[in-house]
Amino acid sequence: MISMKQLIKSDVKYSEDGNIIHFIFGDEDRPYWSKCLTEHLVTNKIDLNMSKRYEDQKDIMTKDEKHRRFIEFISAADGVKVDLASGPSGYFSPILDKLTETDTFIVTDACLPVIKAHSGACGKSNFFVFDIDLDRGLPFTDNSISAFSGNFLTNVETLPNLMKEAYRCLKPGGRFACIEVFYEQGSKSFEHLNAQGSIHASFETFVDFCKNIGFQYIGSDVLITRQGKIAEGDLFPLDDNDYSSDRTIYLEKRVSK
Ligand SMILES: C[S@@+](CC[C@H](N)C(=O)[O-])C[C@H]1O[C@@H](n2cnc3c(N)ncnc32)[C@H](O)[C@@H]1O
Repeated sequence: MISMKQLIKSDVKYSEDGNIIHFIFGDEDRPYWSKCLTEHLVTNKIDLNMSKRYEDQKDIMTKDEKHRRFIEFISAADGVKVDLASGPSGYFSPILDKLTETDTFIVTDACLPVIKAHSGACGKSNFFVFDIDLDRGLPFTDNSISAFSGNFLTNVETLPNLMKEAYRCLKPGGRFACIEVFYEQGSKSFEHLNAQGSIHASFETFVDFCKNIGFQYIGSDVLITRQGKIAEGDLFPLDDNDYSSDRTIYLEKRVSK
């Protein structure tokens, strides 16, 4: 198993507390939105019960070939695997069951209750939780990571920079897999996001961006397509006639010749 000293850039400060590695020091360092999320979880007495979520996700993320492809794609990359903006779902839990002794798995988030919930849900010695603001870049040395995963990463404000950082940190041949919601080209939601220059305006704009920073596009599966909002009160889609699809996307960092 790799040590944090080998993995983290020499000029990056961090502190270790069991399996939690803090890159955020003190309240003033923590992003405002993550404090709001913490307040929401605390005020509403939401018990994340991560062990149960990990158990439940074992069925959800292996229920069909498309979901199993995602789990296998990340699991097959030997070495350090990092889940970005891990959040509360625990969707990656089947990957933990497949970890070998030479693997390391790192969860990342900036919200303390989410971090603590993950920290207590997996007792493996090669499992770590990073308390980190991903909008400030990634702390890893160049070419050190075997795989990145992400589930609804478009929530991260500086997604273009995060994708560039992931590319920098990946080993040649390293893998990136994410699950994202995309609106159809030509829909009102697409037009709005595209006018703002969002790289995730559509599946096509996202893949083009990733190819431009050097990734090789491996493939994608459509998990589900829907019309209109997922839940009442959602900001998107902007029009009830807009279609969106949840898709997996598979990328690789090219091995230079
Ligand atoms: C919409 S969820 C993403 C879904 C999540 N991957 C899951 O499967 O549950 C947003 C999560 O990403 C985290 N997040 C968003 N922006 C972040 C950032 N800049 N740094 C670290 N975590 C971030 C939030 O704290 C929250 O827990």
